[in-house]
Amino acid sequence: MDILAQAKILAQQGKTIYHLEIGEPDFPTAEVIIDAGIEALKQSKTHYTPALGLPELRHAVAGYYDRKFSLEINPERIIITPGASGALQLAIACLSDAGDNVLLADPGYPCNRNIAQVLAVETIAIPVGAENYYQLDAKSVQQHWNSRTRAAMVATPSNPTGTVLPEEQLASLCQFVEQKQGRLIVDEIYQGLVYDRDDYTALSISDECFVINSFSKYFGMTGWRLGWMVVPEDYVGAIDRVAQNIFLAPATVSQHAALTALKAETQIILDSRRDVFKQRRDFLLPALEQLGFDVAVKPQGAFYIYANCERFTDDSFSWVKKLLVEQGVALTPGIDFGEYEAGKHCRFSYTQSLEKLERAVDKIDAFINS
Ligand SMILES: Cc1ncc(COP(=O)(O)O)c(C=O)c1O
Repeated sequence: MDILAQAKILAQQGKTIYHLEIGEPDFPTAEVIIDAGIEALKQSKTHYTPALGLPELRHAVAGYYDRKFSLEINPERIIITPGASGALQLAIACLSDAGDNVLLADPGYPCNRNIAQVLAVETIAIPVGAENYYQLDAKSVQQHWNSRTRAAMVATPSNPTGTVLPEEQLASLCQFVEQKQGRLIVDEIYQGLVYDRDDYTALSISDECFVINSFSKYFGMTGWRLGWMVVPEDYVGAIDRVAQNIFLAPATVSQHAALTALKAETQIILDSRRDVFKQRRDFLLPALEQLGFDVAVKPQGAFYIYANCERFTDDSFSWVKKLLVEQGVALTPGIDFGEYEAGKHCRFSYTQSLEKLERAVDKIDAFINS
């Protein structure tokens, strides 16, 4: 937030800023999806929907799993939410009471610990490194699990590292958590933005996980605030009651637009955007390595590169601030994602055009060599 505020001030002063700190696609929402939203508004689809979402959208999400992963998911298990953020709140609220705890990866998505804190749920941050693809595994979770632990949270691909949790690692993690009668919360918000390898869902491995997804990233609908969660059947009633009270319902117009987002024809447009992200990663990763950044695990998804910058600094927060002021390049320092080796890392988002990324790399080069 400090970096963003500083970037705004510099932009107002007329300085060109290269935004490699932004965690959302630069593309606007695809036109077919926007048209579907406009049409829904014209047809006065402006009332509340059921708290769990439009039945036809829950069916369409089930169709998405069938088409993409040949998986039959009962639409009753699919809950439409205000973004993955809404799903994360519902998951933590329904799985834990005040004083319980959830386990999460450090580095990891920062809002998780804050959502838990709002709910008076404690978080136990588990340091993760390159040896485990910056992801939790059964061994590390076993070491930290205690009598008040209710869940472990993972994201695949991960924010900030872009690494995919290997299926075998996820399977043994599921097995351990289930044996403890806890739950694994798997955030698949970057599903669809996976490069070099096949995409997968935790639902192919276990029906016991809480699987979270969103229309924000692959579907390019951040501002529409819509996501979903697939849960074991026996949790649906409790989640319905919590959702009715804290959200009432997800946005109606967004749900109608999402029906178009899930169509096979729309996927062609979205896949071509994914290919653009891959091209950008394929430019930025070697360019950063050439400058002297170290990226221990090749990011295979999302639109982030989590780079070790200890060749230049062990205080990435100050370094990133100086880079912004001197060269106009905005990055996210490691401290945003936890504490473990945070000062030696920063996150690069490739949510900008190739041309802008090229210019940003030149600027970083000038900064390092000044
Ligand atoms: C890992 C992860 N989970 C959840 C979210 C929240 O996304 P939204 O609420 O827009 O679906 C984000 C946003 O950046 C994220 O990176």
